[in-house]
Amino acid sequence: MDNTTEGTWDTLPVKLNDGILQTLEELKFTHMTPVQSACIPLFMSNKDVAAEAVTGSGKTLAFVIPIIELLLKREEKLKKMQVGALVVTPTRELALQISEVMGQFIQKFPQFTQILLIGGTNPIEDVEKFKDQGANIVIATPGRLEDMFRRKGEGLDLAGSVKSLDVLVLDEADRLLDMGFEISLNTILGYLPKQRRTGLFSATQTQELEKLVRAGLRNPVRITVKEKGVAATSTQKTPSKLSNYYIVCRPEEKFNNLVAFLRQHKHEKNLVFFSTCACVDYYGRALETLIKKVTVHSIHGKMKTKRNKIFADFRALKSGILVCTDVMARGIDIPDVNWVLQYDPPSSASAFVHRCGRTARIGNLGNALVFLLPMEESYVNFLSINQKCPLQKMSPVSDVVDILPKVKTLSLADRAMYDRSMRAFVSFVQAYAKHECSLIFRTKAGLCRLSSRLRPPSPAEDARAQREDASRLRGDNGGHGHHPLQGQEPGEAETEAASGAGGAEREGRRTFPAQEEVRKDQSVVQTEDQEGQTEKECSQEEAE
Ligand SMILES: Nc1ncnc2c1ncn2[C@@H]1O[C@H](COP(=O)(O)OP(=O)(O)OP(=O)(O)O)[C@@H](O)[C@H]1O
Ligand SMILES: [Mg+2]
Repeated sequence: MDNTTEGTWDTLPVKLNDGILQTLEELKFTHMTPVQSACIPLFMSNKDVAAEAVTGSGKTLAFVIPIIELLLKREEKLKKMQVGALVVTPTRELALQISEVMGQFIQKFPQFTQILLIGGTNPIEDVEKFKDQGANIVIATPGRLEDMFRRKGEGLDLAGSVKSLDVLVLDEADRLLDMGFEISLNTILGYLPKQRRTGLFSATQTQELEKLVRAGLRNPVRITVKEKGVAATSTQKTPSKLSNYYIVCRPEEKFNNLVAFLRQHKHEKNLVFFSTCACVDYYGRALETLIKKVTVHSIHGKMKTKRNKIFADFRALKSGILVCTDVMARGIDIPDVNWVLQYDPPSSASAFVHRCGRTARIGNLGNALVFLLPMEESYVNFLSINQKCPLQKMSPVSDVVDILPKVKTLSLADRAMYDRSMRAFVSFVQAYAKHECSLIFRTKAGLCRLSSRLRPPSPAEDARAQREDASRLRGDNGGHGHHPLQGQEPGEAETEAASGAGGAEREGRRTFPAQEEVRKDQSVVQTEDQEGQTEKECSQEEAE
């Protein structure tokens, strides 16, 4: 782990509390990382910091340790209902992760309590927990935190509790200071005392001074940690141990390539990013069917309750696939991810850097691959200039099989799957149109052709699917559900699966929806505004 060679903890110009040193020893973190050695002394000596350091370089401890130290140094001890430190993050998973790290460290300091305020649970439970246990350290997502400030009627005076605040940390600060979180964050900042330390942390820090001022930083120290092992003149933003690739495929080959790649990397732990929640819903299901003997999980910001479990399950897996949106792009520390695949380029170039950063963490090796269409190849140049993120071209994936007929059959055999495919397609086009780099990602080329390939199941197919469902419910088929599209391994014939009607018969039909079907499709399009939101919007909504 060559990016923890910054010296042992006792070489810091400030002495850390013994309880913290003990926990570091238990974790076997013998050496500091560069961002830790730079931030901890400054933050502890009451400076505001805006730190930018590569993904997976240990920024969490660069604020967790000073938070505890600053709270220990307080002249007046914190009372049960007094909040001394607040950490705000853009997503629930990240907040949960930080609260776990904080939990490891405050074990040695039972005088401090912490609370996690994130969406997905009943807010009343949070109010009751806060009133029962109090909280000196709050870790929260903006939506739920804002909500908690408005719960005075239920007996929680959070505005009063934060009057004692010493430290505010915005993790993934550039994202939080982005337009998407502006209203929530302004409300929250409005409740906080001006006399406090503020720390902003990210791998892609905001460069705009007015945003720093808005976050409450006064004469901040800007800390920019460069990667070791890259040329001194380079300002590369991605980890030096990351092998970062791109591949160019025609639109109709893209999914075939993804499936072939995943089939060849079955024993690894891989993330696959899509641009919208609806795409994750659709492609996640499709991949579950097409990639055999591999655990495929899907996660996105519009899932309400299952998310924690899915995330925890995937973290614990030795190998598997997590199909996700940008809700997983920032800060998430999943051990031993081998490949980060980006099926859709993200809507912003900084998100590209964060997505790639889910692998090659803390000096480990890792790989990332983005799938580009021929017309998008100039994105590679753009990334190398805009994000100092060099990419290498990957040689074509071997053993690519045409699975599109099977994917079509999948949609035709199952109305729910067909609806998912439509939502995915519309949301993809909407997200694509919103790409911040619209000169490269042009909506006109290529996309319309794809839409003409989709048609809904006919009434006969619907009826057959219902009969099959009923038969499954009755327990026919030996009690096992039989999906018409159980995928074969590479090398097996990629036939239209056993759903009754033959593939050739289907191929022979018209490919354009009939009149009434078009109307249905339009209604899908109209209700798409919600479904079609990109993760940027999803993550806000779900952060509540
Ligand atoms: N001093 C250290 N020695 C060894 N491992 C460390 C040290 N500090 C942190 N780590 C480990 O490094 C991993 C990455 O840390 P962390 O999540 O804080 O990175 P980060 O810089 O916040 O990344 P991101 O930009 O993705 O948010 C974690 O698993 C953490 O436990
Ligand atoms: Mg982090």
